[in-house]
Order: sequence, then structure tokens, then C-alpha cells
Amino acid sequence: MSQMPHHIAIVMDGNGRWASKRYLPRIAGHKQGVDSLRRCVRAAGQCGVKVLTVFAFSSENWSRPADEVSGLMDLFALAIGREIPQLMADGVRICFVGERAGLSPRVLAGIEAAERATASNTKLILNVCFNYGGRWDIVQAAARLAAQGSAVTEQTLSAAMSLAHVPDPDLVVRTGGEQRISNFLLWQSAYSEFYFSDKLWPEFDEAELDRAIASFQQRERRFGKTSGQIAAQAADGSSS
Ligand code: IPE
Ligand code: IPE
Ligand code: MG
Repeated sequence: MSQMPHHIAIVMDGNGRWASKRYLPRIAGHKQGVDSLRRCVRAAGQCGVKVLTVFAFSSENWSRPADEVSGLMDLFALAIGREIPQLMADGVRICFVGERAGLSPRVLAGIEAAERATASNTKLILNVCFNYGGRWDIVQAAARLAAQGSAVTEQTLSAAMSLAHVPDPDLVVRTGGEQRISNFLLWQSAYSEFYFSDKLWPEFDEAELDRAIASFQQRERRFGKTSGQIAAQAADGSSS
């Protein structure tokens, strides 16, 4: 199989360690992380990836020291405004995924402006998970169905989840050497392939993205079937 992943999701981890190794404050690592994300968005678009979903701030990250949290909020608000021209030039539609309650008016205004400005771009969808948790997502979807009096099925729940506008990720990448999900796309990664990179997020570059994609292309995605069934499917060109 040498298909491009349609949707890549990334846990951008390792900013703090990147900074500490250089005797810099952690926020310097987050700033460098924004540059790395810009590079990654361009590279993914150029490879033909259609959806990129990145984990920028988790529900649990509020527990960090107050100065780091406020530094991240400031950086986020600054970056979303500053990056709009580049997103427009590259045809990127940005969507913010996560709980909006609890975000400052400045951050909310930035989110709304960036979503509005890029809404009709079609080359790549960039989902930025901010104040996001996989458990939050499942609970908010279930609560929405309950409020509507809708039946709970896999289809109705999927449709109420915050990433209902895109297919599930084909490939989930985590940088920074940890091999855990940290409450990222719990529902949507049910059949994703995983790639764990030892690179710290600020060091993640085109070459490492290529390695992640090449690794994905080596995998046989069986979705519960046997290898023989998958081979037969490939031979007759069907996908069911
Ligand atoms: C990921 O980098 C960015 C956020 C969680 C906001 P970290 O800040 O977790 O970096 P490490 O894991 O401490 O190196
Ligand atoms: C996951 O990284 C969240 C983001 C990348 C935004 P963390 O650094 O917060 O994850 P843990 O706490 O080490 O699992
Ligand atoms: Mg971390």
C-alpha cells in the first residue's frame, strides 16, 4: 500500500524539553513549536494530505504553572492573528476544536476571526485542538444527543463529535518520545495507525514527516479482517 494518509493527527510534544536543553524558558520552546507547525502545515499540504489535526492545548494543560498557561494563551492569540495571510496563501482552512467556555475574549475573538477568514479555503483543513480532551468530546457529543432526545448509536455519536466535519485520522503521530495518547482523539483514533517520533516537536521537519508517512505506507490496515481478505480486496480493486 502506498496511499497517502488523507488525515494526519499530531500530538505536538516536547517543546518544554527542547527549551530546557538550551537553558531557555519553556515558552521559548512553545514559540519554536509554532514555527515547526507552520513548516509542517506547508509540507503536509505539499504532500497531498487533506486534513491535519494538531493537539495544541489539552484539557489537562490548565494544571501547568500559571505563567506557562498565560504564556501559551498569549502566544496562541498572537499566532492565530499573525498566521492568517500565510494560511490564505496556502489555501488552508483553520478550525478550532475544543471547549470554548473558559477561553478569554481575546482568544475567542482570534479563533472566530481566523475561522471566518479561512472558511472557504479548500486545499487543507487544519484542525487545532485547543482546550480539547477526547473524554470531553465524547461527553459533549453524548450530552447533545441526550438534550435532543436522539438515540445513541455509533453514527449519531460520531455526527455529534467535534471532528464530524472530517474522516477519522489515518495516522496519529506523537513527537517527544512518549508513547501515550494523553486524552487526544480517543473516539476517532479507533483504527488509526500510530507513529512515535523521538524528535522533540520544535525539531520535527519535512524529513521526519516523510518518515512517518513512509512508515504508514508499510502498514497493512486490516480493520478486523484477515490478511488474505485484504489481499483479495486489493486484487479486485474493491474496498468493502
Ligand atoms: C507540548 O510540549 C506543548 C503543550 C503541551 C502545550 P510540552 O510543553 O508538553 O513539552 P515537554 O513534554 O514538557 O517537553
Ligand atoms: C499532550 O502533551 C498535549 C499536547 C501536546 C497539547 P502533554 O505534554 O500535556 O502530555 P502528558 O501530560 O505528558 O501526557
Ligand atoms: Mg509534554
